[in-house]
Amino acid sequence: MSGEPLLVDRHDDRVVATLNRPAKRNAIDQDMIDALHALCAELEHEPRTLIIAGGDTVFAAGADIAQLRDRGADDARKAINATAFIRINELPMPVIAAISGYALGGGAELAFAADVRIATPTLKIGNPETGLGIMAAAGATWRLPQIVGHARASELLLTGRILDADEALAWGLISSIHPTDELLGAAHAMADRIAANDALATRHTKRALRAPHAQHPDIERELQAELFESGEKHRRMTAFLERKRKA
Ligand code: COA
Repeated sequence: MSGEPLLVDRHDDRVVATLNRPAKRNAIDQDMIDALHALCAELEHEPRTLIIAGGDTVFAAGADIAQLRDRGADDARKAINATAFIRINELPMPVIAAISGYALGGGAELAFAADVRIATPTLKIGNPETGLGIMAAAGATWRLPQIVGHARASELLLTGRILDADEALAWGLISSIHPTDELLGAAHAMADRIAANDALATRHTKRALRAPHAQHPDIERELQAELFESGEKHRRMTAFLERKRKA
């Protein structure tokens, strides 16, 4: 297998990025972060749905502890992983995390940055950072409460407890569970559904979902105003209204 930290499979309407450091259980090191930034630059320029996957037994075992151990306060302030995960979350088109096996620490935080998470029955997801003398600081303290609520996020982050697939599903942390050999297919089926819809309407929906709470009504209104003037809106609505005449 290639030595690239990220394998990128490009299609017209989607890109599949596979974390690829199996010998280190896909621990996220600087090279992998650099590769994620390069992919983001590409997808900002040419928006497509992004599917992020890992291996069958490990999605990602966290930030690379060998690199973390030698980092100091100045490195922490650079928020190396957090910055990349924010950029992934801000991509114009949806991001789907297809998670099999362990998603720990920074691996979990990468998954939290996706718009949608689907997983296999082998999922083990959580943040053991406090056991290593640090905190989860690549988005977990603010993203996890948004996803599962403050009380459940507090329990997970303060205890370091790892959730299995059933509990993650019950908590709404993942939206569905698939056998390992069907996980990628399920992610592609989701990307197919997205691709069948209007790309601009999808992008605007994602922007509205990400908007700061107080600005939601204004942002939603303006994005919809733009869509109401789009030719694609007129075409799709006309196709619906004329469907019986063609049948
Ligand atoms: N950072 C750096 N290296 C890591 C790593 C991480 N987060 N996770 C695993 N590795 C490395 C191990 O050091 C080992 O390297 P070596 O072969 O050179 O000794 C290799 O990956 C295999 O790890 P191992 O623990 O033997 O694999 P496993 O299949 O038995 O267990 C895990 C898999 C994911 C359960 C286990 O690796 C683990 O708990 N990793 C750390 C999780 C963690 O605390 N993450 C939070 C980081 S902030």
